[in-house]
Amino acid sequence: MFVFHAGIISVVLSRVIARKRIPPAQDICKTPRKEIERRLTAIVETVYRLPVPLPVALLTDLHNHPFGAVGRSLAARRPELICLAGDVFFGGLPGRDAPLVLTQKHVLPFLRLCAGIAPTFLSIGNHELTLREPDIALIRETGVTLLDNAWARCRGVWVGGLTSHHALDYRLYREGKAELYPVRGKIAHLITEPETAWLDGFERLPGYKILLSHHPEYYPKYLRGRDIDLILSGHAHGGQWRIGKQGIFAPGQGLFPKLTSGVHDGRLVISRGLSNTAAPVPRLNNPTEIVYIEPA
Ligand SMILES: [Fe+2]
Repeated sequence: MFVFHAGIISVVLSRVIARKRIPPAQDICKTPRKEIERRLTAIVETVYRLPVPLPVALLTDLHNHPFGAVGRSLAARRPELICLAGDVFFGGLPGRDAPLVLTQKHVLPFLRLCAGIAPTFLSIGNHELTLREPDIALIRETGVTLLDNAWARCRGVWVGGLTSHHALDYRLYREGKAELYPVRGKIAHLITEPETAWLDGFERLPGYKILLSHHPEYYPKYLRGRDIDLILSGHAHGGQWRIGKQGIFAPGQGLFPKLTSGVHDGRLVISRGLSNTAAPVPRLNNPTEIVYIEPA
């Protein structure tokens, strides 16, 4: 079950921005994916009060979806730092020639919007696995800083981005070292471990440190013992279906995952994400979410 530190954190606002009528179950199978999501997901703002030195917005898992409600929320709340903890993109498989970003209608406009509101940092999630130099150049043009197992200094804090192991697998494929790629159209997992050696230097930096780690399941194995003040994650989509505060399934964690939402150990903040992915499985009792972390 989730571990909430109620003494440190208080959720002061969880406001429904848009709520749609949930259709009868028999409609769902006949309805295109986007329509399912439009009907079944609402977007809420969740605000956590933590000992952060500046107000931060955490956005994850846009998956190349329309973002009108997100833009209105950001424009209204004006965070001083925007952290995109992975999966702004949707899909991407080895072998495509066109830059991934040019196949994504909403990604560049979304990045421009964020960068126009506050300094914005993006870390690499599993859906960014095929990013290459042409993509990275276009991302840079938006004003967003891409953190690929790297860190940067901004507004008095350090911000790092821990890259998904899926991206490392893909780089092996690009180097011709993964001859089995792709396996039945899927991405084979060859490394299955993130690169964490660079975190030795990151955690020794003086001052407040924020780490974007798309995968929350990295926390117990790779991050819990490190001196990092705030860790921001997504990926789990809240467990897709929720019974009370318990998600049902998350990739990388399986059934009844522990890390899908909320604040853990007072410093791991997990967003339920801004959209669904390709699977025609609706969210249930699990609205999409914009997370704000504000100074206590
Ligand atoms: Fe993900």
